[in-house]
Amino acid sequence: MSYLSEFIKNRSVGAVSSSSKSLGRFMFGNLNYIDAKVIVELGGGRGVFTHEIIKLLNPNCKLLVFEVNEAFCKKLNSEIQDERVVIINESAEHIGKYLRKHQFEKADHIISSLPLSMFSLELKESILQNATNFLSEVGQFLQFQYAPFDYRRLKTHFGKVKINFSLLNFPPAFVYRCSL
Ligand SMILES: C[S@@+](CC[C@H](N)C(=O)[O-])C[C@H]1O[C@@H](n2cnc3c(N)ncnc32)[C@H](O)[C@@H]1O
Repeated sequence: MSYLSEFIKNRSVGAVSSSSKSLGRFMFGNLNYIDAKVIVELGGGRGVFTHEIIKLLNPNCKLLVFEVNEAFCKKLNSEIQDERVVIINESAEHIGKYLRKHQFEKADHIISSLPLSMFSLELKESILQNATNFLSEVGQFLQFQYAPFDYRRLKTHFGKVKINFSLLNFPPAFVYRCSL
């Protein structure tokens, strides 16, 4: 199962190919992982970012990965045997429920590859509201997109939103770094 075949079945996949490792490193390579207890990934897909995040996790840090596509969840579960990682076949707005289930109040950081621009306004608002509700005061919400259309919306949820452009992916991507 590839992005292209899943995209043809369901546009919510939001991409026709995987994100690059280099884009991942650019996005989340310099977060503070030393003190982190739980990192949340939204839209794990085929796991390019998931594998890169795992390399950075400290030995006691959990990684909760939300992915709505069942085929991608099966792939992630079959190739990742790491007690720190939990693959969750649910939509991203359920962050709070799964943080509580694993005895956490807030996520240290949230790393999102979600195709926000393809979502209904209602779903986008619900995901961003839950992300802000369950992000640590000192954490970051990171999001990449192929066009900077959601800058204003992100500004309505986060106190600080920085935007960078990265050529380390095809197509090139905008990376948002948001904090409360
Ligand atoms: C751009 S792709 C992810 C790329 C990923 N970084 C990778 O390297 O493979 C976006 C992913 O978000 C997932 N997705 C879409 N809507 C979602 C939702 N509401 N909650 C969780 N995942 C969702 C899609 O199924 C898709 O796998």
